[in-house]
Amino acid sequence: MNNSEEMSVAIVGCGFVADYYMATIEHYPHINIAGVFDIDAKRLKTFCDFYQLDAYESFEAILANSNINIVLNLTDPRSHYEVSKQCLEKGKNVYSEKPLAMSYEDAKELVCLAEKKGLHIHSAPCSLFGNLAQTLKSAVSGKVCGDIRLVYAELDDGMIHKQPYKMWVSKSGAPWPYKDEFEVGCTLEHAGYYLAWLVAMFGRVEKVIAFSDCLIKEKVHDQELTPKYTADTSLATLVFSEGVVARLSTTIVAPSKRSLQVIGEKGVLEVDDCWNNNGSVYFRRLITIRRKTFLSPIRKKLKSVCGEKMPTTSGGKTKMDFLLGVDGLRKTVLGEKSKADSQFALHVNEVALALQYSGRDGVLYRPESELSSHCKK
Ligand SMILES: NC(=O)c1ccc[n+]([C@@H]2O[C@H](COP(=O)([O-])OP(=O)(O)OC[C@H]3O[C@@H](n4cnc5c(N)ncnc54)[C@H](O)[C@@H]3O)[C@@H](O)[C@H]2O)c1
Repeated sequence: MNNSEEMSVAIVGCGFVADYYMATIEHYPHINIAGVFDIDAKRLKTFCDFYQLDAYESFEAILANSNINIVLNLTDPRSHYEVSKQCLEKGKNVYSEKPLAMSYEDAKELVCLAEKKGLHIHSAPCSLFGNLAQTLKSAVSGKVCGDIRLVYAELDDGMIHKQPYKMWVSKSGAPWPYKDEFEVGCTLEHAGYYLAWLVAMFGRVEKVIAFSDCLIKEKVHDQELTPKYTADTSLATLVFSEGVVARLSTTIVAPSKRSLQVIGEKGVLEVDDCWNNNGSVYFRRLITIRRKTFLSPIRKKLKSVCGEKMPTTSGGKTKMDFLLGVDGLRKTVLGEKSKADSQFALHVNEVALALQYSGRDGVLYRPESELSSHCKK
């Protein structure tokens, strides 16, 4: 191992998702988890004991530690902005769980602050760098299905409010934070999974036409939600700079479906589940026989660009490598250009916010953020 490539990473917030990050740590010899901090002392001790990691006595101890190169912000979404801001102010690069922030103004401030300081702030999701997304991206750029006109994407997460979510606990024992999940809303939590892929393949989102609403008002009976009626469904049409149009649904009301169809002149590329990074990309060719043209009933499995299977989390619905993004940030800090840099994270965040808050009257929204810097120096 070349030690000059190793980076010390401090984790802030070690709740439910922190276990997902630890699931693939043995595949990352250049990531040194230097320590962990959580405002919940009990949770911090449980997590550190489980993984044999060191606990910091305070957040300030991380900020004051000059050996820390990257802070991995795994706090709840409404704490992201404050935690990330303080880290950037103290000269730390940040990898944030999604969303980057709860408002576009806050997200932009973080990205501009990072730029001003010569730092980087990247954000989840990182499944864009997984086997599945890279195979799809290669098929799109290789025009396997010809020129692309339309994309249908569904991030429908199976009637969560009906599920026994109180029984869901992470490997090291953190409960699934259902109150926070319902309050933040599934669009801010999930739309980014497909938005990141679509922006990486088809460019900037030029226009959003969207509707969102809280369709199930009484999801939780044992707690008061704040806000009470966060949208649990968003339905959107997105127009990309390369002219492609996409329909994206993000909901917890419809049955589970996380599929994608990329519709081209020669046929359709299909993905069954964007949360399974070792899943396959399929192609259905458009066939003409005599006087009829139709899609082949046989799906051809495309060869994966990564060859072998990548490490992923095991158990649960997600089969992803959450550390891929942190390792990408490590490489960016070392000087490698990233396709999912701070501006990319800002753009995905801005579009997700537009979908989430489009409301029941619907909106036509034109994102402001570019895929290159527009922060004033
Ligand atoms: N739960 C999931 O299934 C899931 C999956 C993928 C991504 N995520 C994302 O991961 C992030 C964290 O989600 P989670 O499910 O782990 O939430 P969680 O509530 O289980 O964990 C968040 C942790 O952050 C701690 N925390 C909050 N503010 C803090 C602060 N200022 N300093 C230190 N610690 C602080 C809390 O005490 C808690 O332990 C969210 O952004 C979420 O969108 C969650």
